[in-house]
Amino acid sequence: MQLVQKNILLAITGGIAAYKTPDLVRKLKAEGANVRVILTQSAMHFVSSLSLQAVSGEKVSTDLLNEEAELGMGHIELARWADIMLVAPATANTIAKLSSGFADDLLGTVVLATKAPILVAPAMNQQMWAAKVTHQNCLKLADLGMKLIGPASGEQACGDVGYGRMLEPEELVLEVIKHSSMKDTPKLLKGKRITITAGPTREAIDPVRYISNHSSGKMGYALAETAVKMGAYVTLVSGPVTLKAPKQCNLIKVESAEEMLEAVLNDIDRADFFIACAAVADYRVDNIATQKMKKNKDDALQLKLVQNPDILKTVASLPRPPFTLGFAAETENVVNYARKKLTTKKLNMIAANDVSNPELGFNSEQNALIVLTRENERKLGQASKHSLSLELLKMMETEYRFQNKTNNLQDAVK
Ligand code: PMT
Repeated sequence: MQLVQKNILLAITGGIAAYKTPDLVRKLKAEGANVRVILTQSAMHFVSSLSLQAVSGEKVSTDLLNEEAELGMGHIELARWADIMLVAPATANTIAKLSSGFADDLLGTVVLATKAPILVAPAMNQQMWAAKVTHQNCLKLADLGMKLIGPASGEQACGDVGYGRMLEPEELVLEVIKHSSMKDTPKLLKGKRITITAGPTREAIDPVRYISNHSSGKMGYALAETAVKMGAYVTLVSGPVTLKAPKQCNLIKVESAEEMLEAVLNDIDRADFFIACAAVADYRVDNIATQKMKKNKDDALQLKLVQNPDILKTVASLPRPPFTLGFAAETENVVNYARKKLTTKKLNMIAANDVSNPELGFNSEQNALIVLTRENERKLGQASKHSLSLELLKMMETEYRFQNKTNNLQDAVK
């Protein structure tokens, strides 16, 4: 339940994807949200206000010029009520109108009147999405501070294939969760410098092949995004992933563990915190072939692997190390192995990540962690990687202050 007591104002516009919105409302409510719905006149052709009223438990608003609602200034009341506004599906026409500030219907007026963050989930034919004018309108929306989520690619109702599908209800819910936790993000890390590693490393075998793992970078990027929102200066040292880094980060892209180590060491002097979230390959190929390797007559091929440097251990062993937060991806004995890493690598904190469940950890939207310090152990139950990032960074900041205080006291009595 990650949206408890959050007021979500869902505006539904006239696209075929509107048929998915009763399910979206149900899923938002399952996360504890209060949901109210605005239904535009054309949306009413695709989904009934009665269904939406039944699933939301609230009267659905359809009209700007509704005498009863406007007695209480209905559009202003809705605009003030919302913690987050979600426009889904958002048609090309709606995007054009919102980008120009039209206020000729209830949706347009509420968008102008609300201070809540506005998420827009486009849904349209792939050719309409590709149109230059749609692109320009989307840029205008982003410039106005609205956040586009999606569209996804795939088969469309009209038979075309391409970008333009609305994100699925569960993906939209995750986006709402992400933005609602961001909205309330405390600025606990204001002015602090954090270096974060994320994603996998790739260890070359020859010019076209490599050894790697399933890390998507989602956990590390969520940490980076959240740390920025908490006021930190973030250097994100990232292995090869397909994610977009937050604009405010200093992004350093690397491929191999050795490159990652070099990038980290170049930055670490100024860091207050080091978070090692990357899934760094423990081994690399000893002699990387300079040309593409050929199949030979033998059935087997032997590669000699040598150990990679341990980036986290190297940082934690520096004469003046930053506060170090490691991750431990384990499939068994999760807490014991993590605790061993905490002590042998001399870390301040470690987040044990049980990756035996394919739904969590590597390349998933959600995760669950057990956070260990030398004295304490705390469970962070299954949640989106963004929500977990916020909890984890808050714990890291508290522990940083506590350990600093203890060190200062110890210095004073020496
Ligand atoms: O990227 P996602 O798809 O979102 O998945 C997230 C994740 C599962 C990769 C992440 O949550 C996670 O658990 N990262 C650590 C993965 C890992 O390599 O764990 P490990 O137990 O092998 O390593 C222990 C720690 O040492 C880690 O902090 C790791 O970054 C660090 N390490 C390991 C080896 C090495 N040569 N250098 C290191 O710095």
